[in-house]
Amino acid sequence: MKIGIIGGSGLYEIDGFEFVEDIELVNRYGKPTDKYKKFYFEGCEFYFLNRHGHGHKIPPHKVNYRANIYGFKELGVEHIIAFTAVGGINRLLKPGDILIPDNAIDFTSGRESTYYDEEEIYHIDFTNPFCPELRNVLAKSVISVKERFYEKGTYICTNGPRLETAAEIRAFWNLGADIVGMTLFPECVLARELEICYANVSVVTNFAAGTTTEKLTVNEVLEVMKQNNEKIKLIVKNITKN
Ligand code: HPA
Repeated sequence: MKIGIIGGSGLYEIDGFEFVEDIELVNRYGKPTDKYKKFYFEGCEFYFLNRHGHGHKIPPHKVNYRANIYGFKELGVEHIIAFTAVGGINRLLKPGDILIPDNAIDFTSGRESTYYDEEEIYHIDFTNPFCPELRNVLAKSVISVKERFYEKGTYICTNGPRLETAAEIRAFWNLGADIVGMTLFPECVLARELEICYANVSVVTNFAAGTTTEKLTVNEVLEVMKQNNEKIKLIVKNITKN
């Protein structure tokens, strides 16, 4: 089994994972945001990709999502687990919480968001944007490392890089969104177009704009992700058991 993991660079060193090689790819969509790091663990091949590039320099709207997902396909990856940092819109959510969304809303614009923009026209079914089997595996994996966790919810994806206004967050809540982030789209669409099973694990790093009086800083987001790094590593490690 070949499993792709998209996240930050802090994820790489997992106890027991045997590093194999760094794989640098270039494909017809350009250069993926970083090298793919290949590991072996319990009979599985893991390929890690840093979505924001080395040193976290690529903003969400500039990520070459098409090159990234196409690269996974070229490596033979059939399952992708994507980790994302999100703001909590739903009042139940607190920083440090983990949610495995079961649906999503796309508010991005101007991103290269399909492989079907040349001679071929095709409309994928996207009623359920995430792979249910992979979500189940992930839920078991998350339960084993963290008792406070939400097994469903709706992710709304904004274009960024600016954060939202308070009115936008109120509107998103009325639309049915529980969490807000900037990187799920078009990543999840592209994976479906290439028939790769994709699921997302979102880590709540902050209360969404206007739901708290505190001002959000990028440092806060990175800090909460860092604090949750060990848990995320364990979630990845436990996948092979589920
Ligand atoms: N909004 C959008 N993206 C985010 C947030 C947020 O509050 N937190 C982490 N990524």
